Amino acid sequence: MNTVALIVAAGKGERAGGTLPKQFALIAGRPMLAWSYAAFAKNPRIERVIVAIAEDQQRLTAEHMPGVATITGGTTRRASVASGLAAMGDAERVLIHDAARPFITDAVIDRLIDALDNADGAVPVLPIVDTLVSTDGTSVSREGLHRVQTPQAFRVDSIRRAHAEWRGAEPTDDAQMVRALGGSVALVQGDPMLEKVTLPGDFAAAEARIGWETRTA
Ligand code: CTP
Ligand code: MG
Repeated sequence: MNTVALIVAAGKGERAGGTLPKQFALIAGRPMLAWSYAAFAKNPRIERVIVAIAEDQQRLTAEHMPGVATITGGTTRRASVASGLAAMGDAERVLIHDAARPFITDAVIDRLIDALDNADGAVPVLPIVDTLVSTDGTSVSREGLHRVQTPQAFRVDSIRRAHAEWRGAEPTDDAQMVRALGGSVALVQGDPMLEKVTLPGDFAAAEARIGWETRTA
């Protein structure tokens, strides 16, 4: 079964600040994008890694990720994913991943790919441990709620159809588009290592998790 990874790295990283777009900022001496790229590239179940970058970041990519082939992303995350889906030929399965989540383990990749045997898609989730409250002070039960991470795995035909037929507002992930067409999306156990780097302080938190390399060795 032919499985590819698509890393979307075509954002501007505005909330993270910094001089470089966050996907190129160094985490423990290595560009953030390089961490997830290496994890997919070494995984025996992934045959190809596709990286979507912004048109005006090609020079930066050549400088920080030498030798890595890329495609051009779009002005929204959804458009960047669509570019990747168009570039993966007859691949049967895809893991769509945010470059902003540097640390992926083989265990998460295994859980996602295995779940596709019985579902159109699969997403890694973590339980919510904090109490939830709405702005008006109403308590919200956390029962049955999850935080959703990436990579998100799909049968390529399902996610392609979902992107082609999506008419809703800008989605915050890919799985919601598949569900909107009635597709099944399995929830698998996520990993705290997959937290997204969004704000300036998140870089320090990511560096603090760096035992990752030894943990997966
Ligand atoms: N992304 C993308 N193409 C876009 C926008 C986002 O490929 N047009 C990617 C980002 O590079 C990132 C992932 O989608 O890996 C998640 O997006 P986010 O964390 O919001 O990153 P940015 O959009 O770069 O950050 P910001 O919203 O703060 O500008
Ligand atoms: Mg963004």
